Amino acid sequence: MNIEEIAEQLEHTGYIVLDQPFPDLLLTQLLTRCQDDNPARFHAAHIGRGAAKVQIDSIRGDVISWLDESNSIDQCYLAQMETLRMGLNRALYLGLFDYECHYAIYAAGTGYAKHSDVLVGKKNRILTTVLYLNEDWQASDGGELVLFEPTGTDRIATIIPKFGTMIIFLSESFPHEVLISHHTRRSLTGWFRVSGS
Ligand code: OGA
Ligand code: MN
Repeated sequence: MNIEEIAEQLEHTGYIVLDQPFPDLLLTQLLTRCQDDNPARFHAAHIGRGAAKVQIDSIRGDVISWLDESNSIDQCYLAQMETLRMGLNRALYLGLFDYECHYAIYAAGTGYAKHSDVLVGKKNRILTTVLYLNEDWQASDGGELVLFEPTGTDRIATIIPKFGTMIIFLSESFPHEVLISHHTRRSLTGWFRVSGS
């Protein structure tokens, strides 16, 4: 992972798509953690926070599991992201304070309608990261991430959720949508945050 290059592209275009920033071994281990064979680990995702928190299957079809700091595989990924956090702070003075991250599994036939990752009244998410864990994914399998320009009308990028691909983007700048997937779709989604509200 070339942090200089990531910083430069975030500064100039606001997002970067990386082909395979992590070694196969780590990706394979992360994939073993992104399985809902233990149903207690994954739960339906919710929209919003606090009193506004609702679960609406038609908007968002994934089940999620937050990373566990006591798990050695999760620790390994979090360590990589910590290096990235410090490097980006050094290069861009972003003041990134921490990183929250969950595994996500979309069942076939589900997606996530166009949304922003920055919740109203809660602007502490600065950068979104999504790492995809889908082996042998074809363009015809659907499940693309579509990034829109800030006003939300024009598409600026379509990302196929292939094994090892990662996207990083400015959370506030890009409304985005997960198109309906025709197969089970696995990923790790996280946010670098600044402290406070
Ligand atoms: C999200 C999200 C994108 C993706 O979880 O907020 O937009 O490609 N995920 O999984
Ligand atoms: Mn999102």
